Amino acid sequence: MSEIKRVGVLGCGLMGSGIAQVAAAAGYDTVVRDVSKELLDRGRAGIEKSLAKFVEKGLFKELDGLCGPATIFASNTSSLTIAEMAAATKRADRFVGLHFFNPVPLMQLVEVVRTVTTTDETFKRAFAFAKSLGKEAVAAKDNSGFIVNLLLVPYLLDAIRAVERGVGSVPDVDKAMQLGCGYPMGPLTLLDFVGLDTTYHIAEIMFKEYREQRYAPPPLLKRMVLAGMYGKKSGKGFYDYGANPPTVNSLGL
Ligand code: 3HC
Repeated sequence: MSEIKRVGVLGCGLMGSGIAQVAAAAGYDTVVRDVSKELLDRGRAGIEKSLAKFVEKGLFKELDGLCGPATIFASNTSSLTIAEMAAATKRADRFVGLHFFNPVPLMQLVEVVRTVTTTDETFKRAFAFAKSLGKEAVAAKDNSGFIVNLLLVPYLLDAIRAVERGVGSVPDVDKAMQLGCGYPMGPLTLLDFVGLDTTYHIAEIMFKEYREQRYAPPPLLKRMVLAGMYGKKSGKGFYDYGANPPTVNSLGL
């Protein structure tokens, strides 16, 4: 790296987001500005898509060559296998999962995930790092979904199944779990919050790993994702966010 430490990118279109991505990947502290949050969100989505392509092709491998031996790699994946990512590098002993929760500034927990190759030293450093961020940390094994999603995903998918089967309406399923169990959000509101597309992909990965029906994405979820109803991020999911407060989406049910 040169003596320049920080890169500012003005404009987060196709070129701006690409420049920000390569600067950040090269280790520069990178700041991106644009005229609206919408443009920034679009730019970030583009960067995430591009990074996902690199990951498929071995991004980690490329980073491995760029980073010094002291660098620990950590992935915020919620369901992919840490062992597989670690195997793409020459530092499988210095690879962990650090799984944060949405919204990150408010949620207290980080799952610190060790895989079969993670050393004690790496794990301890990653655990201490999570705590240094002011979070509570728990240790989890490199099982798809770790602790939280292993339990949360079947619960969310069951809530969709309950709606599909007409057990309760969308607002009633939400109200039942909020008031009956004291959860801060009902499961369908939480699905809209996490993203239906994200949940669908996590469920597909977990279903592939465990081959258990409880992780299979319900047909309604698949159809909503195909229709572009990703929840809050796209403006429509189980609720319609065009109105304030959001209204219930009829979903042809
Ligand atoms: N950043 C900073 N502050 C925020 C914020 C954010 N992203 N979102 C909300 N806040 C603030 C609000 O401004 C408000 O502040 P105030 O009290 O000073 O006015 C306060 O937090 C409370 O917000 P709200 O009154 O709007 O709403 P709630 O009281 O319902 O709290 C919530 C919001 C913390 C999101 C709560 O509803 C909650 O805990 N929901 C469940 C979230 C959850 O389960 N997350 C895990 C998802 S699973 C996951 O991430 C794993 C992944 O792999 C899928």
